[in-house]
Amino acid sequence: MKLPNGPQSPALVQMLQWIFRPMPFMEDCAQRYGDIFTLQLNPSIVFVSNPQALQQILTSDTKEFAAPSDWNTVFEPMLGKNSVITVSGEVHRRQRQLLMPPFHGDRMRTYGEVINKVTEEVISQWQIDKPFCVRSAMQIITMRVIMQAVFGLYEGPRAQELEEVLAVMLNETSPLRVVELYFPALRLDFGPKSSWGRFLRRKERVHQLLNEEIQERRDNPDPSRTDILSLLIAARDETGVAMTDEELRDELMTLLTAGHETTATALTWALYWIHKSPSVQEKLLKELDSLGDNPDTSSIFKSPYLNAVCCEALRIYPVGMLTFPRVVKTPVALCGHDLEPGTVVLGSIYLTHQREDLYPQHQEFKPERFLERQFSPYEFLPFGGGARRCIGMAFAQFEMKVVLAKILSSWELALVDHRDVRPQRRGLVTGPNRSIQMVVKKQHQLPSRTLESSTL
Ligand code: HEM
Repeated sequence: MKLPNGPQSPALVQMLQWIFRPMPFMEDCAQRYGDIFTLQLNPSIVFVSNPQALQQILTSDTKEFAAPSDWNTVFEPMLGKNSVITVSGEVHRRQRQLLMPPFHGDRMRTYGEVINKVTEEVISQWQIDKPFCVRSAMQIITMRVIMQAVFGLYEGPRAQELEEVLAVMLNETSPLRVVELYFPALRLDFGPKSSWGRFLRRKERVHQLLNEEIQERRDNPDPSRTDILSLLIAARDETGVAMTDEELRDELMTLLTAGHETTATALTWALYWIHKSPSVQEKLLKELDSLGDNPDTSSIFKSPYLNAVCCEALRIYPVGMLTFPRVVKTPVALCGHDLEPGTVVLGSIYLTHQREDLYPQHQEFKPERFLERQFSPYEFLPFGGGARRCIGMAFAQFEMKVVLAKILSSWELALVDHRDVRPQRRGLVTGPNRSIQMVVKKQHQLPSRTLESSTL
């Protein structure tokens, strides 16, 4: 089968480049081979960064292409076999149908109050002139938000332990862990002190805690609850079938992990760029100020410059470098290449967002580009698209805006140093290549605001 060109180095070398320096590797290949190239990653995978080709793939990923989970096995150790990410076909469609409602439109915006309250709790601990690690602070906020959205008001020893064990598990993003995920033969349990052994024991504990919670909820049904777990327990697909305990557990694991790590990184980048670019900061503060003393979350959500800042933060260093794999079902021509059934194709979100023809001076942080031009969903796609488009897209965008508005209205912050920070692999996603430290300068000069939530 003739595939688009790509590097000729041995597959193992390509795999190691992919694990240790995925973004520079993709950039080198795009420079040499253009919008479409093949990497030998056992199997061969075709990388695509051309918007027309992405449109072709993502609008047809149930027809000419499929979006199976066979290539998502790298997520299985963490999320299990019943996660929406690790199932395919009809089961996948059904799981999505059950999961989508709590994250959609009006419903998810009712989480505004929770997001506001959690942010307030965390930032009220900050002290003037005391540096803090932005990512850790954002991770605490997004973890508590997703825990409360998933479980409802969630306190007590089980909640605390779950939060702690999950945070430790997710912060283990060393290259060794990535190698273990990509090479199943290296997943060796040499007891609690070994890397994989530690992972397995922590996961076991998280499963126990989640199973206890599911059991308790099933034993004490309460129709007045509106948290995501209650909605999922009550949900029935079109044939009237409910989710099993294993499905519920793996889905909870998926929402808790996918739902906080990614948003925490996006918020970290947004705060970094806002404080690295004085003119951006000034414009943003002016816009927030114009919302008045007690803006509701609806006004915050609709603020154009805040929206542009969030989009640009997700554009310049997207947290997800790639879409999940799609597989060719019927012979198809993509960017002038004939691809045969079985070919695995990945949309490179990172490369698409770096295209100079779409984003002039692409290495610069310029929120204005999102005010001057409307980008298509295949030119700007931080949440992927098609059959596997991110379920938490609306939730994450809403959370980013409410958290940023709250922080910026409350405190004047500064970066501890102005050295450049670059993205690098962080487990299966990306993140800053060093800790970004900020310091609180003073309580903000803007009128102090209590953000009020509203159901839109
Ligand atoms: C800034 C934050 C986030 C980013 C950048 C992000 C990015 C992505 C991307 C790129 C995909 C793959 C889409 C594709 O293959 O076409 C994805 C899938 C997914 N995301 Fe997110 N995500 C974020 C937040 C969230 C949140 C808050 C949740 C849940 C609460 C979530 C849950 C999921 C799930 C369940 C999938 C798999 C969907 C499927 O397989 O059908 N994500 N996300």
